[in-house]
Amino acid sequence: AQNAERQRILDTMCLSREQLLEVKRRMSEEMVRGLSKQTHEQASVKMLPAYVRSTPDGTEHGDFLALDLGGSSFRVLLVQVQSGQRHKAKMQQKIYSIPQETMQGTGEELFDHIVDCIAAFLEYMGMKGASLPLGFTFSFPCHQSRLDQGILLKWTKGFKASGCEGHDVILLLKDAVRRRQEFDLNFVAVVNDTVGTMMTCGYEDPKCEVGLIVGTGTNACYMEEMSNIELVEGNEGRMSINMEWGAFGDNGELDDFCTRFDHIVDDSSNNPGKQRYEKMISGMYLGEIVRNVLIDFTSKGLLFRGKLSERLKTWGIFATKFLSQIESDRLAMRQIRSILQHLGLTSSTIDDSVLVKEVCSVVARRAAQLCGAGLAAVVDRMRENRNLNQFSVTVGVDGTLYKTHPHFSSIMQETLQDLAPQCQVTFQKSEDGSGKGAALITAVACRIKSEGQ
Ligand code: BG6
Ligand code: GLC
Repeated sequence: AQNAERQRILDTMCLSREQLLEVKRRMSEEMVRGLSKQTHEQASVKMLPAYVRSTPDGTEHGDFLALDLGGSSFRVLLVQVQSGQRHKAKMQQKIYSIPQETMQGTGEELFDHIVDCIAAFLEYMGMKGASLPLGFTFSFPCHQSRLDQGILLKWTKGFKASGCEGHDVILLLKDAVRRRQEFDLNFVAVVNDTVGTMMTCGYEDPKCEVGLIVGTGTNACYMEEMSNIELVEGNEGRMSINMEWGAFGDNGELDDFCTRFDHIVDDSSNNPGKQRYEKMISGMYLGEIVRNVLIDFTSKGLLFRGKLSERLKTWGIFATKFLSQIESDRLAMRQIRSILQHLGLTSSTIDDSVLVKEVCSVVARRAAQLCGAGLAAVVDRMRENRNLNQFSVTVGVDGTLYKTHPHFSSIMQETLQDLAPQCQVTFQKSEDGSGKGAALITAVACRIKSEGQ
């Protein structure tokens, strides 16, 4: 009976092929709604034009600064691009921490802290006072009407600094630079991490026309036909669209696939009711889903001898790295047990380890399948846009969950192939982060500007 009860609960988190096809269909529908002038406001998937059209042609050169904010680490980078030396951008970077209080304090505190880090970086590089062009990877939904502007629509993930939503983050950063009165910066571009990643990978593979992040949050961008982007004038060529697909489901599109556990995770988050798809897929939330399933199992006496420890009741104990470790095929149950012990879940037996691993596996599988279904909608749309029967494309990917999880990428790819059989999709992991892409976008913008002069 215990087995049956366990299975019944796990089954609520398994999606059938029909359900995944339905997710793909609804995602395609939302993409259309997000692109259209009439329905854009109500669409859950915002399909934000990102004002990146041209890829590097190899003639750009110079030194560029880049910031990379919104993933699991905040970085400041110096990227040196040499003309004729395509594929050979030199990068130096440093990671700085952003304390939780700063992420959730006032906007001024957050942007002052960012400027402190830039100052420290310039000093460290022996470039104090230098005024370089800067590309800002800012991994949150922004409305742009040009490349060097980004009005923050809503914080997502762990950020909620006050006084920023509705404001241009470039202006917030400029104000902070002015307050410091030490150096000047030449702000050129605001770039979403998906777009930065697509660009980083596109520098090496021109077929890279999709960017995907599966990390703290999840999101995708791709090259859309200008003629389909009703919110931007002009019909020639293509422009990258930051989909903000994490918000898919915010109009109820995922309600029939959500479980009790998804509702608990959503309710106890920073932004209840928002980013519903992201909350079923990305690193910041998967551990929380697992933890809530384990709480349920324990309270039903199916796990940890029915003893609900304080530790298990603690938000956030299952970081992405533990999920990835627990599912690693190389680990024996004994090692999983020691991970659980490390997490403070001391009263576990080997049977408990088997069940915990199974829960992790079901939750990650569903995430990878949902992500694959979304991606199937994207690549099939690109194929149809181009009137092709067969379409081959490269997806540039970044994010800790994607990179460290032993099965996420293969399950996602299997799902994608099954749901979009007319597309041959190659995945390229971004090794250099999205800051490099932001610097390249900045370099292209500077080249175009100087050509126009
Ligand atoms: C990094 C990119 O490599 O990956 C960031 O440079 C991006 O821009 C991040 O946000 C996503 O992964 P995670 O796991 O750090 O959220
Ligand atoms: C969140 C952000 C989005 C970002 C993604 C991945 O969904 O809203 O802009 O791309 O996380 O970091």
